Amino acid sequence: MARLLSASRAASIVGVPRGIIQKHIQNGELTSFEGKVKLSQLVKLYPDSKFEDNAMAEKIEEFIASALKRARYAKFQKLIAPDTATLAARIATLSKELSETKTALFHYEQLFNLLQQHLSSNNSQYQELLDWLQTTDKNITTNQPDLEPLIGKDDLLRVMAAQVHISPSGLEYFVEGKNSILEAGLTTGSALNYGCSNGNCGKCKAKLLSGKIEKIKQHEYVFSNAEKSQNFFLMCSNTAITDIEIEAEIAGSENEIPHQTLTTKVKKIESLNKYVTVLTLKTQRTNRLRFLAGQEVELSLNDNLKKVLPIASCPCDESFVQFHVNNDNSTFSEYINNNLKTNDSVKISGPGGHFVLDSHSTRPIIFIAINSGFAPVKSLIENALSLDSSEYIHLYWINTQTEQPYLHNQCRSWKDALDNFNYTAINVGHLCTDNVPDQNVFSACLSNLIKDHADLSNVDVYASIPETLSEFANSFFLAQGMDAEQVHIANY
Ligand code: FES
Repeated sequence: MARLLSASRAASIVGVPRGIIQKHIQNGELTSFEGKVKLSQLVKLYPDSKFEDNAMAEKIEEFIASALKRARYAKFQKLIAPDTATLAARIATLSKELSETKTALFHYEQLFNLLQQHLSSNNSQYQELLDWLQTTDKNITTNQPDLEPLIGKDDLLRVMAAQVHISPSGLEYFVEGKNSILEAGLTTGSALNYGCSNGNCGKCKAKLLSGKIEKIKQHEYVFSNAEKSQNFFLMCSNTAITDIEIEAEIAGSENEIPHQTLTTKVKKIESLNKYVTVLTLKTQRTNRLRFLAGQEVELSLNDNLKKVLPIASCPCDESFVQFHVNNDNSTFSEYINNNLKTNDSVKISGPGGHFVLDSHSTRPIIFIAINSGFAPVKSLIENALSLDSSEYIHLYWINTQTEQPYLHNQCRSWKDALDNFNYTAINVGHLCTDNVPDQNVFSACLSNLIKDHADLSNVDVYASIPETLSEFANSFFLAQGMDAEQVHIANY
């Protein structure tokens, strides 16, 4: 029986972004069976994938690090191993599958042998068929690609991390360690429906369609008998033992996220240079902000000091919400730099704004940021990396203020760590008045971009630039043959 893998699993075991697997499907190099691909086709495309039995412990660590890198490279955190009970449950499930497969194999081997015997005993009548059967059997054995390496990787990944597939959105992610299904889902930056994270509100309720889950904490929320009979469970209180398919609510667009007002605490205030201060706020763990990457909120420092700022962090960043404050000598920025202290309360309300990723697109993405316009772009990049859905990402950061952009090293580390991420810093400060590039300067920057990407017809562009350049940028990209839906522009 052909072994089928989801796009996420296929991507993990051969170590490429999920977007690349989807591209193979679009190009007809892999056949999709309800979103899954055949392992035998995958091994033909990636014949160099290896899995060696020797030095198993080291290999496991090495393999897991690379296989799960895609899902966690936004933060480069360490893999959390599952606990013993979860490991045992996963191994038991795999053992059951193995014994079923062995039984089926034994059955077909017997059938094959009996068929050969039957044909041999009537040799004159069936000799031609018998010859064909034996030659075909030999050919299949000789010509079949070596499936073992990828089967080994797939089995190992299934023991270490279970995959969640959410209907109808199609979101896929892995559950590591003892994470709940909700926690693991939030690390993808998706706007799953939830409230307390604690088993009280029932907002994270989902329906189990297939696979096994296990309760990891008691909850007070009580299901009705009808809900119980339909396999409803709480994502915040359960982990996945095997690969599971569930039905759950995810905000598909920014319009589906409710307006929220939260009181946060100041976690950190960090002046990066004389132009930008990074402000990090922390929400309560049981009352996080639901938003999509690239959106903005209003910050209220007190009754009179309010400002709408783009969020610079990813929704996958747990309870932390980051902002890049322009030090423009306004009362707002002065207050942040001179009066605000760690642990002070800051009210945030939102989210708002439409500068969000097109969740249906797997096209390569080009990001353009000018100075602190990088804030929402950073949020989008971290989200795109955690979703792993784009085959290629290129960031152009145009800087007019200092020699290097203020988070240059972070962008360099993405570039160094990820094969599908490119980063170009462009300094045009010497060509600008008041640190703002005019159309001519911006046009020269875009010419650089065109040198790298002559054909823009199949990419998405996200540009966070001053309003004065919006119209020009929009006309420029449409003139390159892009559709309006591929061009996303925000002003800062
Ligand atoms: S988020 Fe409230 S019960 Fe799960």
